[in-house]
Order: sequence, then C-alpha cells, then structure tokens
Amino acid sequence: MRFPLAFLGFLTQAPLQQQPLLQQSKTQSAMAQQPTPFAFKEGSDVFAPKNLVELGRPGAAVANGAGDLALVPFSKFSFTDKQNKKSIYVISLDSAGKAIHIPLEKGGESFWLSQTTIAHVVEGDHASEIYAFDVHLSAFNGNNPNDETEAFTPRGLIRTIPSKTASNFRYNEKTGNLVFSAHVYPDGNLSTVAEQDKEWEERGNSAFVYDETYERHWDTWASKKGSQLFSVQLTKGQDGQWKSDDDFKSPLQGTKHNTPVEPFGGTDDFDVSDTHIVYTTKDVNLPLAWHTKQDVFIVPIGATSGPVELTSGEHGAIHSPVFNTAGTKVAWLQLDKDGYESDRAKIVIYDLQKKVSFTITQAWDRSPDSLAFSKDDTFLYLTAGDEAKIKVFALPVPPTPSESTAHPKFDAKYTTPIALTHSKAASGLQVLPGHKLLFSQSSFTSPNDAFVIRNTKAIQEAILAAGGDKDKVLADVVKVDKLTGFADADLKGKELSEGEEFWFKGALEKDVQGWALKPKGWKAGEKKKWPAILLIHGGPQGAWEDQWSTRWNPNVFAQQGYFVVMINPTGSTTFGQDFTDAIAKDWGGKPFVDMLNGWKHALKAHPEIDADRTVAAGASWGGYAINWIQGHPEYGFGFKALVCHDGVFDASYNGYSTDELFFFNHEWGGRPWDPQSQETLKKFSPSNFVSKWSTPQLLIHGSKDYRLPETESIGAFHALQQLGIPSRLVVFPDENHWVLNHGNSLKWHYEVFRFINQFVGEKSQK
Ligand SMILES: *[C@@H]1O[C@H](CO)[C@@H](O)[C@H](O)[C@H]1NC(C)=O
Repeated sequence: MRFPLAFLGFLTQAPLQQQPLLQQSKTQSAMAQQPTPFAFKEGSDVFAPKNLVELGRPGAAVANGAGDLALVPFSKFSFTDKQNKKSIYVISLDSAGKAIHIPLEKGGESFWLSQTTIAHVVEGDHASEIYAFDVHLSAFNGNNPNDETEAFTPRGLIRTIPSKTASNFRYNEKTGNLVFSAHVYPDGNLSTVAEQDKEWEERGNSAFVYDETYERHWDTWASKKGSQLFSVQLTKGQDGQWKSDDDFKSPLQGTKHNTPVEPFGGTDDFDVSDTHIVYTTKDVNLPLAWHTKQDVFIVPIGATSGPVELTSGEHGAIHSPVFNTAGTKVAWLQLDKDGYESDRAKIVIYDLQKKVSFTITQAWDRSPDSLAFSKDDTFLYLTAGDEAKIKVFALPVPPTPSESTAHPKFDAKYTTPIALTHSKAASGLQVLPGHKLLFSQSSFTSPNDAFVIRNTKAIQEAILAAGGDKDKVLADVVKVDKLTGFADADLKGKELSEGEEFWFKGALEKDVQGWALKPKGWKAGEKKKWPAILLIHGGPQGAWEDQWSTRWNPNVFAQQGYFVVMINPTGSTTFGQDFTDAIAKDWGGKPFVDMLNGWKHALKAHPEIDADRTVAAGASWGGYAINWIQGHPEYGFGFKALVCHDGVFDASYNGYSTDELFFFNHEWGGRPWDPQSQETLKKFSPSNFVSKWSTPQLLIHGSKDYRLPETESIGAFHALQQLGIPSRLVVFPDENHWVLNHGNSLKWHYEVFRFINQFVGEKSQK
C-alpha cells in the first residue's frame, strides 16, 4: 500500500506541516483550505509584486529616418483605475534627457511617416484606422518639452485598412510604400475577409475541424486564416495632406506562405527595400508541427511578379532577413537542423547581384538573434547572447565569394564578431545616419532604456585596423550613451540587486555559471540567516540573463526576503552550442548534476543562507525540473516546498499533446512510440517517480497553454492529493504559457509567496 510510505516520506521531508495527515486530507478535499494569513512585504523602499506590475513598461526605441528622434512605446498599468494606459515617448537622440510623452487612448502600433510625423494605428469596428500627429522639434529645444499641447499636433485619420488585424507596419518615406501584415483567407484578399468572417460566424455550429497540424498553436486554435503581407501607397501632398488610394497589393497572393511566422514573428520576419520585400516563411510542403524549416523569399513590393526563393538545400528555421542599405544584399540568421529550434543561428549573406550565398559566422560559437547592415554596407551589427548577457557585436562584411558556400575561407576579421557592450540585455538594434547605432537595454535592475553609440565610424576603423586582434583596441573606442531613465524615479531607494555571477564545476567537469541575489536587508557581517529560493529557467534551451522580466523577476524574490540562486545548467543558451545541445535525451541527467553542484556551491559561499529554509520554483522546463526533483529525494536538495508553473509531468503524454511536436521528437530522441524515446521516457519522465514524492508543492497552470496543456498540472495535483502531500492548484483559465494579465500577475505572486512563506517564511522558524 502506497499510503503509509508517502506518509513516512512526508514526515521526514516536511516536518513543518503540523496538521495530522488524516485531518489534513479531509480539509483538503473541501476546496477551501484554512486561509493562511499572508501579506507581501511592502513599503516605499520595497519593490513589491504590486510595484512590478505597476511599473511602466517601455518597449524598444525606434528612430525616424533622419536618426534624430526616436519613439518608445510605453504602457503602464494601475490597480487604482484597473487600466493599462498606452502611450509613446518621443526622445531626442541629440539632446539627452528630453522627451515628449504622447498618450494613446486606444493604444495601437506606432511608426514613423517622416522626420517629425508619427502614425498610430487603432483597431476600429471593421478596419484598422491610421492616425497621424506631428511632433514639434522646437519642443526639444524649449524649456518645457513635457507640456503636451506644445509638443505635438494631431493630424487626424489619414487612412483606413479594411482589416482589423493590420499590423507590423514598415513605411518607406522615399517611395511612399506602406507594407504591413494582416490575417487573410487562402484567397489572399484583404477585402473579402469581413464577408468570410461573417459566413464562418454564422455557420450554425461551433465545431473546429482539422485534417492536419497545427490544429492549435501556443494559445490559439487554428482557423483558415493566415498572416500575409500587403502594400499600399501613402504619400504626403504639396498641401501637407496624406494621400492614399485603395490599390492594395498582395505580393504573397497565390502562395501558401504565411509571414510573420506565428506565434512570435513580427517585423523582424520581413524587410523592405525601395523595390522589394524579403521575408521568411515556414516550408509549406512540410507538416508544420514536426518541422521547423523556414525559407527566404524575395518579391517586388508591387506584386508585378511572384516570390522567388533565395534559400536552397537542407536547413532549419530562419529569422531576421534584412536588406543592406543599397538593396543589393540580404542577410539572415539560419539554423542548420530542421526539427530543432535551439540550433546555432549562423549569419548567411545572399548577394542579389551575383546570386551567391555564403555563411559568415560558421566558426563563431554564439547564436545571433538580430542583425542590421551599416549605412555604408561595410559592417553588420548584431545582438547575441554571450555568457548570460545579450551583447551588441560588430562584424565587417566580407567580399562575396565567387560561388555559394557554407564554408568560405575569410580573414579572421570577417568571421568573429566583436562585442561593443559587455553587460545587460540588448535588443532593437537600429543603424542610423551619421554613424550612430541605437538600441535598447534592460538588466536585472532596470526595464528597457534607450542607448546610442555615436562613433561607429571610429569603431569600424579600429576593428579593421586590428585585423582580427580586437579586444585590446575597443575598450576605449566604444562610447555608449544612455538616453532615457524610464524607471529611475520609481526604482529610487529600492536597492535592487545587480546580481552576482558565480562559476562552479558541473557535470563532466564543465564550468557552469549562475547568479546570486542577496535578500533585501542583507548586511555584511550579520549573523541573520535567510530563506533561499532556487529559480529554474524554462526552455530548457534558455538562460537566466542580466535582463528585466515582468515574470520571474529575481529582484521581486530578493525584495520579499529570499536569497535568490539561479543556475544556467546544461541545456542553457549563451555558453556555446555543445552546452546547449547536451541536454537532449538527458533531461533528468547532467542538468541536475549542475544544479546540485551549483546549489551546494551557493550554500557554501553564502553561509547566511538557512539551509533548513529553502524552496525551488520553475516554469515550463523549470516546472519539469520541479516535478523531477520532487521524485528524487536522494539528490538531497532538502527543499521544504516546490512551485511548478506550467511544467511537464507526464512527458510521454506531453509528447502527443504538445503543439510543437518537433520539440519532443528532438529532446526525447524520436516520436513518443519510437524505441529510443520510449527508453528516454522510462528514465526521465517525472510521472514514473511519483511514489517518491513527499514535498509540499504548488501547481499553477494557464488553461490556454497549448504548449504544455493544463492536464500536466492537474495530473500532478491529483497525485499529490492522493498521497496526502500539502498541495494547491491554481488555474488561470485565460492565460497561456505565460501569465500576462496584470491582475493575474499579482495573484500569481500572491499564491507563490503565500505558499513558500508557509514552509520557510519567518513564522515557520519557531
Ligand atoms: C478581392 O476581392 C474583391 C471582391 O470580391 C475583388 O473585386 C478583387 O478583384 C479581389 N482582389 C484580388 C487582388 O484578388
């Protein structure tokens, strides 16, 4: 009989629980448990969960064509009026610190129409409505740029697009081409969407019917519609009025191509030159759910001829196709393996004049995630993760070889990008006229701010002069200026921790990295002991990076009085491809040697951690790890409580039920019924080790999580309950793999901190 065994385990591992088991299982069967009084630590000097949810959220800065102003999308939620207010800040790249704040009552996407005109798109009843306003340059010279009425003039509605889903706008001032995406039916026609939507809604039943995958993806059941690209002319007349006609071009019409690629694709899935669009789309000849292969196509903006493929041969996913400034080359980020989303991305350049493609970062063991050509097309700038930071890199563009090759022979200076930044997490890289580079950076201590490098000419010269021997030259050449301080006032006095890096030996004697954040109130030399939490990241091909997060923000845990330990174990990105690849078919293996070694290292390095008051929490793969630790008491972590958010419980069933089947097939060694994955599943599915479970556990799941469906947490909850282990299930019916709603986010934090506080909080010491 399993019951007494579990009882035993329960007593040895969770001595703090005071209710007798029988009584406890009775009260637990009634849904309402005894409420445990719990309140967050809050106050003017504390960065509490409520402060995280209410802190303004700046997006990445986007500059105008002249490169003198940039707009930053901004949103700020308030619990007082329960509203998420959208706005944009317009900042000057030349007079630092000056900003105009423009409220956007109805939210929506913004983009530049000219040096001083910003368009802003609002979803109307049946259409997307584009409004414009002019920003006054004088506002940046005057004394009071924050006076909104002085700073901009609304110009009203300038055009509508007959689709509510118009998005991802790119406007070319010179040619007047406005390119955007919208969801259309297979006829690829913007003007028939409303009618076909109506037919569908009035079909007389609610069934969804599928003959192929994806039947659902991320958080959405598939419909017949897909995202395609459109263009229309929009020009400013002599009279200053914006003019447009209804001659929408549909350059992807007649293809099955969908771009941006859902669910996360955006403007970085296509680029626009004066004459053409280059875009990436999934290979439509392959089943979507178990292939990742994407191809790159080029098509005239005016749809005068059909798309032509630039890619060839075998490869995997492709991201970020970009034109060079002259429109004569395209570069993109290409993964080699079809069926693996975390393969190393390599930069491929396609020379449109010579019809030659070549790979330039074949020998660089880092994976870029965005790129842009310099204005003179001699350099590429890119962002890439490097040892848990996301840095900006520069790389000279090599001469085009005589024929296409994935292994060209180039001088060292052409093959190894050079880091221009060394901390934080960069995004939104944009090359500007006048040798400037604009980007945004966040960190553990700050959400996005805009940064600029103004001397890329000198940097490029220094890199070329160094001829591949770079590091020594650059330190004093690169000058990064911070343009904004969006959160400065709100975070003042909160003393957020920058995080301390530590390294230790993990599995196979490899060097493994982690972060430690000391709890709020920690003082050197004091005897006080603190509870600690091990945070486990998802992916598993991801990393705890020096980056701001509105979910799993480590400083929120530190501010509630927890010593925070985060480890980047085997499988983590930014430490080289071998380290990332090494988790495949070994989910319950090397990562846990790493985490245990890292955890012991942290306990030893920080004797102020109370080893009797520790917990662990994780989401997604991190949730797998929680369920795995639960079933492996022999590791001896000694956690008093566990928190699993959207985690894997029965890996075998998940291999069938998840949306992206390629992920399971890659990670477990085949489809769920194949011999290799059967073997791996037997070894590493958490559901096989439930008989050893004994630690109190909180489970949280979003019902719209189609990556790891909610039955993963429900199954684990049923196991915990039948074993009489203190447990709670929190379900968010409207959330996907992430908790995004502001109220839900606060509730999430409340449940997490309430649960762990029960077992390791200050009161539990007595
Ligand atoms: C789109 O549909 C409309 C209405 O049926 C039709 O008049 C028009 O020719 C179609 N356009 C294209 C590009 O197929």
